[in-house]
Amino acid sequence: MKRILFVCLGNICRSPIAEGVASHIAKKRRLQIEVDSAGTSSWHAGEHPCEHSVKVSKQHGIDIASLTSRPVSEKDKLHFDYIIAMDSQNRNDLEAMGFQNVHLLGDFGGHEGKDIPDPYFFPGFEGFEKVYSMIETAIEDFIEKIEHESI
Ligand code: 4NP
Repeated sequence: MKRILFVCLGNICRSPIAEGVASHIAKKRRLQIEVDSAGTSSWHAGEHPCEHSVKVSKQHGIDIASLTSRPVSEKDKLHFDYIIAMDSQNRNDLEAMGFQNVHLLGDFGGHEGKDIPDPYFFPGFEGFEKVYSMIETAIEDFIEKIEHESI
């Protein structure tokens, strides 16, 4: 059983989408993986994902409304096999906290290391569709690689 933790800053916009997409794919393909998400900050701890993330996921048949934000913890360092950061700031912060084996989600799916942009300050819904699509493409590729044990 592989354990995967998706991490962004607030754990209310990007990483909950990543958790939802990965769980959905795992369920569909009956993969033995455990997925979770967390934030490098505790600013939104206890909150559900932001409205636009819930909406865009729902449009793709994925319900993330009941997920709740939490900050990363010391326990996560031992528990998870893969720590997947949404952008390079998140990765830097995680490494500064002592996390090892941190990957960028943008390293998968042909994004060539591009950050998943922080949608928090986007004015409207449009940016979230782009973010959703980047996350989905990258996770498809990431899961393929786990299945083939190539990472
Ligand atoms: P996330 O987005 O890291 O994708 O959850 C953000 C959520 C909240 C804030 C920044 C980014 N914030 O500054 O509160």
